[in-house]
Amino acid sequence: MNIPPRITVIGTGYLGATQAVCMAHLGYEVVAVDVDPAKVAALASGKLPFFEPALDTLLVETLATGRLRFTTDFDLAAEFGDVHFICVGTPQSSGSDAADLRYVDAAFGELARRVTRKALLVGKSTVPVGTADRLAERIVELSPAGAELELAWNPEFLREGFAVEDTLRPDRLVFGVRSAWAEQMLRAAYSPLLAAGTPVVVADPATAELVKVAANSFLATKISFINAMAEVCEAAGADVSLLAKALSYDDRIGGRFLKPGLGFGGGCLPKDIRAFRARAEELGVSAAVAFLHEVDQINLRRRSRTVDLVRELAGRSLQGVRVAALGAAFKPDSDDVRDAPALDVARLLYLEGASVVVYDPQANANAHRAYPDLDYADTLGEAVDGADVVVLLTEWAEFVTADPEDMGVLVAQRRIVDGRGALDVARYRAAGWEYRALGRPAEV
Ligand code: UGA
Repeated sequence: MNIPPRITVIGTGYLGATQAVCMAHLGYEVVAVDVDPAKVAALASGKLPFFEPALDTLLVETLATGRLRFTTDFDLAAEFGDVHFICVGTPQSSGSDAADLRYVDAAFGELARRVTRKALLVGKSTVPVGTADRLAERIVELSPAGAELELAWNPEFLREGFAVEDTLRPDRLVFGVRSAWAEQMLRAAYSPLLAAGTPVVVADPATAELVKVAANSFLATKISFINAMAEVCEAAGADVSLLAKALSYDDRIGGRFLKPGLGFGGGCLPKDIRAFRARAEELGVSAAVAFLHEVDQINLRRRSRTVDLVRELAGRSLQGVRVAALGAAFKPDSDDVRDAPALDVARLLYLEGASVVVYDPQANANAHRAYPDLDYADTLGEAVDGADVVVLLTEWAEFVTADPEDMGVLVAQRRIVDGRGALDVARYRAAGWEYRALGRPAEV
């Protein structure tokens, strides 16, 4: 029997922490490295530095097996690993749409300088196509004589909120490799998933890099398509929720990612479509993905439209209007407020003079750090207490299941804008609420 490869994971954010915990859960010996000692200490003591359902308990369980260690020591990782997964962030650069590759470059550099034996460095981060080829050259320059390092790309498709599920039961694995040995190492590193029948696409590294940005671009385009239809519905007096429902029965189209509303945000979709356009321009094919600019613009327009609806319901300028903003995270089951449409709408309302009180079941602390000027409530009841308009911005279950009658007792005016098309209109209307949603006529 072949000995399972020893795994290291570099970077312990959403992606890295999930990869490390899941690999240990699958039975591998794992060393996870981060440059941030506070993060390492938290993880090593079984505490997740962010909110992710199911990962918290799996972290504690895998730590107890002794197969998972967290460290800041790159020497230890370099000595330990047969397969090194690089899982660091690639945020949008400040001042341009391009991806900021400094963390990826640093992580590959740290390993290349230290590894003295045969090992596979595997990029999992989302990067502009061509990054793997550039890094492969750099690794050769940095690598000590005698080390036999190879590079592969294995993009990650996990969704926040479903990180464990998506990692242990992925739709597919993509291996961007340059040799049979690299493919064999990746097959060994994922053997339990392959045994469970996960499809694998083996490709060159450039194709693997592109698969990821293409997938996120497609998803963003699908969301913006239905939100563009919402704009048309608003002008024509039609109902986008029924339009989306009717489209979804065509299984060539499908209903997933066809939910109209406030649009996409988070640390991936928005920055990935921008970085893709920037990279396409460098490659001289900007026309091929010029539509992604429209995808971005449609998405951003939903935010100002939501503010318009709040203004319409208030019946006057927003100066002094007390608004309860329900949600701050970019989607439910997450505490992530990066490029969050919810928080952006709260900010726009505040800039128009509204007195905004934000409540999110998990993201209040992150939201407060990002926008300390807004007021934050500790409970839903506190947020809606005395509100002239309530606006639903993130469709947390707590908001969707809230009783319109109970909420109605607390507010100053029964007026609600449903920014996610997630509420039961009939119940709200029956309880005497004025209800408005994106892409739907006022009286539906
Ligand atoms: C996204 C992709 O779905 C993952 O496959 C990918 O691995 C990940 O980015 C990444 O690049 O790391 P994530 O950012 O966690 O995952 O969030 P999604 O579940 O894709 O949602 C993105 C945004 O789209 C959210 O703001 C959500 O509210 C919005 N959305 C989603 C809609 O507005 N309508 C929909 O129908 C679906």
